[in-house]
Amino acid sequence: MPEIDVRLVDVTKRFGPDVVAVDHINLEVRDGEFFSLLGPSGCGKTTTLRMIGGFEEPTSGLIELQGQDVTWLPPYRRNVNTVFQNYALFPHLSIYENVAFGLRRRKVPDQEVRRRVSEMLELVELPGYEKRRPSQLSGGQAQRVALARALINRPAVLLLDEPLGALDLKLRKQMQIELKRIQQEVGITFIYVTHDQEEAMTMSDRIAVMNRGHYEQLGTPEELYERPTTRFVAGFLGVSNMLRGERLGEDGGYAVVQVVGGARVRVPRERLNGRAAVEVGVRPEKIRLLSAGAPAAEQLNRLDGRILDASYMGVSTQYIVRVADEANLTVYEQNVERTEEGSLHRPGEMVSLAWTPEHTFVIHEGTGGDAGNAG
Ligand SMILES: Nc1ncnc2c1ncn2[C@@H]1O[C@H](COP(=O)(O)OP(=O)(O)OP(=O)(O)O)[C@@H](O)[C@H]1O
Ligand SMILES: [Mg+2]
Repeated sequence: MPEIDVRLVDVTKRFGPDVVAVDHINLEVRDGEFFSLLGPSGCGKTTTLRMIGGFEEPTSGLIELQGQDVTWLPPYRRNVNTVFQNYALFPHLSIYENVAFGLRRRKVPDQEVRRRVSEMLELVELPGYEKRRPSQLSGGQAQRVALARALINRPAVLLLDEPLGALDLKLRKQMQIELKRIQQEVGITFIYVTHDQEEAMTMSDRIAVMNRGHYEQLGTPEELYERPTTRFVAGFLGVSNMLRGERLGEDGGYAVVQVVGGARVRVPRERLNGRAAVEVGVRPEKIRLLSAGAPAAEQLNRLDGRILDASYMGVSTQYIVRVADEANLTVYEQNVERTEEGSLHRPGEMVSLAWTPEHTFVIHEGTGGDAGNAG
């Protein structure tokens, strides 16, 4: 087992009598991992990060860094550094002095400062920028300098609060790849806060998906996407088709669930965990569209419906399919087989939706909090 770098034990933060910003969080971040807190505005990401950094005291609970209880230590006594969204570089200092700042304060000899600053500028791919001022940098470059400045003291943990939030989409995507490379090169534990699911998925080893002061599920990007266990996670990470149903019985390793229009779908048995009334889901790209009545392998789950809408989206075509006059399902089909005349299926057409039972996930109603911390 890798070592635990940051541990939150039952941490709660209240602001006044009414606001519970963080609600009994238990969390273990492993040494050297890229860990993200992902969630909508106001769910408590920044407050959690600020407590780890020491800028905010928890109302109750315990925070450990590398096995040491730091709950009541001020920020400068923690082996942690922070990068914020508004890079907060010193405008009157050169890039060199901005990066060197943390070393100057510790009276590190000049020669070593030179060596380490140039090492850091190399790492963030800005060698040659030593003499410039922050006002002479682009947003992406300024954020690289902020990163170099935060890493130069070699903290055990780097906290990042939406550091790419001010950048345009294209630059943000570039910087995501850069950040991941830098984290892997330095091997320092990163705790990254974002409300952007794609960003979290691109960079993270593991993600905690937060909602209303706690996290609903914790796991690798793949685990969270392939097998979300709450409705919130299923909807926040990508698009999900949800179907309410009732368990009818079993068939080999599968549970049989009756859903809209009386159709039966099969679900790997252990995912149902014995429950009777359930909500199952399937991702839009897992579904194949077949012409109505077309044969399909018997083991596939299958629903019949009518195409309501077909929209060209570049990489894929998005279909909205009405099933049993009850549910609208979304289907993505890669545009490999698209014909000159347009999409393969047209609005009004009757179709079948087919997918393998293994791609069906199950919502565990009523679970949440730290239930997923085993990942
Ligand atoms: N100093 C404060 N005083 C009172 N309430 C606060 C304070 N700081 C945060 N809150 C409240 O606590 C909750 C969580 O805030 P927090 O800043 O942690 O959210 P966030 O997930 O970082 O949101 P965002 O994505 O918008 O940055 C919010 O309801 C917020 O209004
Ligand atoms: Mg925030």
